[in-house]
Amino acid sequence: MKKSVFAIVAVVILLSACSRDRSKPNMQYMPDMYVSVPYEPYGINPKMADSLASLVPPTGAIARGKMPFEYPTGTDGYNAALTNLKSPLPVNEENLANGKKMFDIYCATCHGFKGDGQGKLVQNGKFLGVPNYKDRAITEGSIYHVIYYGRNMMGPHATLLTEKERWQVVQHVQKLRTDLMPAPVASAQK
Ligand code: HEC
Repeated sequence: MKKSVFAIVAVVILLSACSRDRSKPNMQYMPDMYVSVPYEPYGINPKMADSLASLVPPTGAIARGKMPFEYPTGTDGYNAALTNLKSPLPVNEENLANGKKMFDIYCATCHGFKGDGQGKLVQNGKFLGVPNYKDRAITEGSIYHVIYYGRNMMGPHATLLTEKERWQVVQHVQKLRTDLMPAPVASAQK
């Protein structure tokens, strides 16, 4: 008996959602599921002058996890970075190890694994003018600038490395440079 009462109630509820009049919407039990409240991502947005503007980030917006690099390209930016730009990373084994790994992948073909400017491409005569790091008065800031924008014949590497990886490579370049420097004369001590 109880079952048939339930069945009748269920049928009445179901039928109440039907209508012959197509001009009026039928009853919707969960309208938010069918009718989107916000604007569609690729739809027209009448609130924007440019109907697609909702996809363009506002001027000055910074993507999550990204920091803008405030030093411009060119000589002025290079000189500013040379003197003022400092690494945010502490020098430690982990940073040095990953710096070496990235350097060996992206830089050693030209600069050589030791940074002496004798990479494979130089030895094969395919690329010229790669300096020995010990012959350049470079700082952590200038190295970062060069990785970011490139310099003369060297192309930019900003898109190949994350910000952290760039600074790790900087640490490795500085280590290579120190290793290439002639050892200080110890006789003065004795
Ligand atoms: C295709 C070859 C090539 C690759 C790859 C390359 N470089 Fe260079 N690099 C050069 C050349 C050529 C120069 C000399 C540019 C100049 O000063 O005229 C140079 C110069 C430099 C200098 C010295 C610039 C200065 O301020 O005097 C640094 C530091 C440097 N590169 C770091 C790197 C690092 C780090 C990488 C890898 C992320 C790298 N390079 C990848 C060719 C290359």
